Amino acid sequence: MNASETSRLRERLNRAPRVAVLTGAGVSAESGVPTFRGADGLWRRYRAEDLATPEAFRRDPRLVWEWYDWRRQLIARCQPNSAHHAVAFLERHAREFLLITQNVDGLHRLAGSLRMVELHGNLWRVRCLEEGKTTENLAVPLPAIPPRCDCGALLRPDVVWFGEGLPPAALREAFDCAERCDVFLVVGTSAVVQPAASLPVIARRRGAYVVEVNLEPTPLTPLAHESHQGKAAEILPALLGLDSAFGDPLGVPHSTLAGPGRPC
Ligand code: OAD
Repeated sequence: MNASETSRLRERLNRAPRVAVLTGAGVSAESGVPTFRGADGLWRRYRAEDLATPEAFRRDPRLVWEWYDWRRQLIARCQPNSAHHAVAFLERHAREFLLITQNVDGLHRLAGSLRMVELHGNLWRVRCLEEGKTTENLAVPLPAIPPRCDCGALLRPDVVWFGEGLPPAALREAFDCAERCDVFLVVGTSAVVQPAASLPVIARRRGAYVVEVNLEPTPLTPLAHESHQGKAAEILPALLGLDSAFGDPLGVPHSTLAGPGRPC
């Protein structure tokens, strides 16, 4: 029997008014975006202290921006995969829905997700160090490194670095949702980075049905009602019964997807 046959997720979703989804880097892995941990993870090849902290940026903004420019170039070539599309599908069919993502790649939005909080920010936004103003920036590659604001001050990526707090409004919305939801899906996260890792634990304690999809067991696995091991782009559509409705990858023409998306 495959995962979709044994899973009670669809039955739960049918009577669950409030659905939450937490995603991590694994949801974008099959789009070609590197994850952070694991054999080929970014943190195996690069030191977060040199590239993803406020101190690193103060020390060497050019080096930090070169790394982010490289990641932006890589991600600009990527398309959402079946897992992103399945999450967007779920949003369209749930009465109340929130996607909480740790990803900064923008692929969920490109797949049509609208009701979402980006806990760790977004690579396609920049923030002026002087004015604090954030703006969209889709330039690939960046014409000048480090980029500067019209006011002349340095721009930084609008992402959360190690040692920084998460955006308070996004955090509040995520925790409220974890406390109220009926079904909580966790997809492609190692569930080791706080505070995101606490969200499914809170949801579980408040009575939500927790379903995990990951290549391997995580600290969350023993807590989840269901834990499915395998690729998110295969398992998630199957769990939702979408595998027959869509082609490859899910066959949803991008033009039919609602909402603003980053041109890829
Ligand atoms: P990680 O790299 O820590 O974990 C990725 C998870 O995805 C692992 O548990 C993998 O087993 C799983 N995975 C990989 N490929 C998969 C696939 N095709 N299908 C399903 N699962 C797959 O990434 P995150 O949990 O997102 O923070 O990491 C959390 C945060 O740590 C990131 O947002 C980033 C990082 O440091 C910041 O940069 C602030």
